[in-house]
Amino acid sequence: MNPVRHDSTTLVIARPDDWHVHLRDGPMLRAVVGFTAKRFARAIVMPNLTPPVLTRADALAYRARIVAALPKDAKFTPLMTCYLTDDADPEEVARGFEEGVFAAVKLYPAHTTTNSAHGVTDLAKVRRVLARMEAIGMPLLLHGEVTDAAVDIFDREAVYIERVLAPMLADFPGLKVVLEHITTAEAADFVVAAGGHRLAATITPHHLTINRNALFHGGLRPHMYCLPVAKRERHRLALRRAAASGHPAFFLGTDTAPHRVGDKEADCGCAGIFNAPAAIELYAQVFEEEGALGKLEAFASFNGPDFYGLPRNRGTSTLVREDWTVPSLVPAESGGAVKPFLAGETLRWRLAS
Ligand code: NCD
Ligand code: ZN
Repeated sequence: MNPVRHDSTTLVIARPDDWHVHLRDGPMLRAVVGFTAKRFARAIVMPNLTPPVLTRADALAYRARIVAALPKDAKFTPLMTCYLTDDADPEEVARGFEEGVFAAVKLYPAHTTTNSAHGVTDLAKVRRVLARMEAIGMPLLLHGEVTDAAVDIFDREAVYIERVLAPMLADFPGLKVVLEHITTAEAADFVVAAGGHRLAATITPHHLTINRNALFHGGLRPHMYCLPVAKRERHRLALRRAAASGHPAFFLGTDTAPHRVGDKEADCGCAGIFNAPAAIELYAQVFEEEGALGKLEAFASFNGPDFYGLPRNRGTSTLVREDWTVPSLVPAESGGAVKPFLAGETLRWRLAS
């Protein structure tokens, strides 16, 4: 094990992984994948393409496209996921896991977020798949928001926990679940109360950095919009405490979700924040602000693989305390561009290697 080395200028940690990314496909994939591959050894790749990644063949083909899009010197392993639909075949899902093609299954409640139209309409329809996953130890990754239009958008995660997640955990007591990109104190508390072995949560750098005011700061801010949407300040503070606690049930998942500028700055702007160009740097800044730099390695490099039952990375990453500026735009797709989270702002930790 590499003990964390940190002084006021240098931070050396075991190479981190990102347990939740959207790498997209085609020209967008080629534009963004290098940012993730530079910072992380492995990443759990979300399957919400159009059409979604449903089968082993889909995942193998997508994995090959990701590998082909990597910069030449990259050392990066994509971990693929299967998009759960009402009519998913338990056999296909289980074989994908057993053959090492799928690392996990992603459940989007239908119509919760970007490209979730094929998602699950009713949990009753996927019970056989969940039972099979429970039997073989295959993790279920949840977009934890109810779609009920009667529920206020800021309450949809907390209501999901109560209405859907708690009964699901009781029904499938052996099922390993990751509640993705948590945004509320309720979620953090619920994960801790569950004991840390079969329920975990990823936390994004943006939910540790902004609260919902950022969406309206001086005007409408489409690049601060993602789902689940940022909540009140008290929730951001609870997420910071959870991440910085080093508790094994919390780990790094950026939910970096690039959309072209034109698709964000639109009448109906897409949900998703592109944070890959500054991800580990931002986490380091947050942990430093929390006085918890010594816990960054557990959150970024140990808790994720331990939960998934994968080996921890052997190499190290070095961050240096040196101001640098987040790129203001990343070119993508036939003259288009993607705007990174905190574009043009100065961060205190720079990734050296
Ligand atoms: C993600 C996307 O754009 O694919 N958007 C987002 O706001 N996070 C989907 C998701 O993870 O919800
Ligand atoms: Zn996501």
